[in-house]
Amino acid sequence: MTESSTQAKNKFYVTTPIYYVNGEPHIGSAYTTIAADVLARLHRLAGEDVLFLAGLAEHGNKIAESAEKAGLQPQEYVDGMADKFRSTWKALDISHDEFIRTTEPRHAKAVEAFFLKLKDSGKVYEGEYEGWYCVGCESFKKESDLVDGLCPLHNRKPDWVKEKNWFFKLSDYGDILAEKIKDGEITVLPEARRNEVLSFIAQGLEDIAISRRSAKFALPLPWGKDQTVYVWLDELFNYCTAVGYADDRENFDKYWPADLHLVGKDIIKFHCIIWPALLLAIGEKPPKAIFAHGFFTSGGQKMSKTLGNVIDPMAWTEKYGADAVRYFLLREVPFGQDGDVSEEKMLTRYNGDLANGLGNLFSRLTNMVEKFMDGDVDEYVQSARDLKEVTDSFSRLDFAGGLVKAWESIAWANKLIDDSKPWELHKTDPDKVKELLKNLVAVLHDIALRLAPIMPETSDKIRVALEAEKIVKAEPLFLKK
Ligand code: MSP
Repeated sequence: MTESSTQAKNKFYVTTPIYYVNGEPHIGSAYTTIAADVLARLHRLAGEDVLFLAGLAEHGNKIAESAEKAGLQPQEYVDGMADKFRSTWKALDISHDEFIRTTEPRHAKAVEAFFLKLKDSGKVYEGEYEGWYCVGCESFKKESDLVDGLCPLHNRKPDWVKEKNWFFKLSDYGDILAEKIKDGEITVLPEARRNEVLSFIAQGLEDIAISRRSAKFALPLPWGKDQTVYVWLDELFNYCTAVGYADDRENFDKYWPADLHLVGKDIIKFHCIIWPALLLAIGEKPPKAIFAHGFFTSGGQKMSKTLGNVIDPMAWTEKYGADAVRYFLLREVPFGQDGDVSEEKMLTRYNGDLANGLGNLFSRLTNMVEKFMDGDVDEYVQSARDLKEVTDSFSRLDFAGGLVKAWESIAWANKLIDDSKPWELHKTDPDKVKELLKNLVAVLHDIALRLAPIMPETSDKIRVALEAEKIVKAEPLFLKK
């Protein structure tokens, strides 16, 4: 084996959806991004060559409308919004390696190359589209997608459009996609989403329009200047642009195909059907896996500006800290399912699981080690709890399951302290207290290591305190609210 091959690491290319910049980052976009961050950190800890991509969708009518409302030029508007997203991700401790914006020149170049390749595939033809289009979704709609004539996702009446467009023969790809999903070349998770995708394919796929005649603030169609690229194709291609499709083939070959696209359940057709078919048409491999998580409601209702129940991740982060927000979102709702979040629920978990649970264990343990052992644990002992399941659950994207396991050990440790009362026991049997505390330090240290992908700052604080030559009573990790 050559030196370089012995050093070759497994690569892990993980992505988030690129969010529309027509609104500020909210708890939903924070959710997908935090989950992707946890996976990126987990795979980095396993020694893999991780590429974690985040980014923004900045083109299209929806964005142009928002810019107009804000009284700004579209580019000026998207630049301002991009700053907001970047600072929110920073506050949430998101460790993306790459950040892509669809208004970047490298993306225009990649999309042009992509479209020319697509045209060469023979799967593209000129036709006429007549039907509904929802600007909120930036998507064509069938009559059967509407509820009382409205787009159910945006509660707005779609536009009726009739225009000459270019089409992609998606209808040719049903069998091949179903086969690839069934044989595991494309993994769709969770199971329920996989079934949804397969049954959608089984109904027969229709061709899709890939250009628009009237879109504002969009990339031009390379071969027809009166047309623009349909924004969803522009957006999907970000995953290829970012690894160098148009300017760094070596890097592209290193990272493509993506190992995991993390998305919400609202955009699975784009990611599990349209995107793999487009890639096959241009001779590239489809993504290895797509995981679609559920949707949050807020206080029992759909989040909406009118209801005033939109949760601002930045406000929560300022109030509770990034780790608490990360913990709460991944603990409260099993990943993959829909669930409800609210500040009341956040407070319950913050005060209960974090301040009383983990925080209390850390404070009293460091306090007692300082008091009864002069801060000196001298040797490290094997943890008395097997916490492997915590990490295994995170790897399976069962974040809540892993956290439940970790918190069982936290509760066990707190109970052991309550039951054995070291503050009394040390008067009669100081050696036993030392033994007990040593064990608990080992358990908490292991918990901290395993929580690192979810709560990086807290994990660091605990590890630094427990690894110190002399352990001293630590500052509280979470101040009760
Ligand atoms: N621009 C497209 C994505 C293109 S990816 C090539 C888009 N953008 S979006 O801003 O609408 O973001 C949708 C994503 O935001 C969802 O798939 C999900 O990841 C996240 N969420 C938005 N609202 C959410 C909830 N209420 N709950 C959970 N996640 C949510 O679609």
